[in-house]
Amino acid sequence: MADISKIAAELRRLLSRAHAPYSGVHVAAAVEGADGRLHFGVNVENAAYPQGVCAEASAIGAAVTQGTTELKRVFIASSLPGLIWPCGGCRQKIFELAQSGCEIVTFSSEGEIAHRTIEELLPLGFHLKPGCARQP
Ligand code: THU
Repeated sequence: MADISKIAAELRRLLSRAHAPYSGVHVAAAVEGADGRLHFGVNVENAAYPQGVCAEASAIGAAVTQGTTELKRVFIASSLPGLIWPCGGCRQKIFELAQSGCEIVTFSSEGEIAHRTIEELLPLGFHLKPGCARQP
């Protein structure tokens, strides 16, 4: 199992790599695959605003590129004060690849930490497989 404090430190370090010239909000995320490997991502904004990519989506792209399609945990940190949680679109992206009970762990710059399962964050999420809607 990955060391939480090391992941938090790495996310804080990666915040400087976010490309967020429009909102000024820097976000870094990591996803942990079923095999324990970690994949990192940052938000990448675009002058055509809707084309911007959230940090979670970047991390998922990195994971899938490395052959990981089953997520055990997702970690998030941002430059905002307090804790942030994934936006609705990212909840759906996580849900698609999440193992049952996949934990979303969020860190604040003040040292707070909180976690929720993907089923808590996205109850009755959309899924193409009939009968596969996961409930908390
Ligand atoms: N953002 C993320 O990267 N992840 C989230 O969970 C919420 C928001 C980004 C999108 C945008 O680049 C910036 O934060 C401000 O909304």
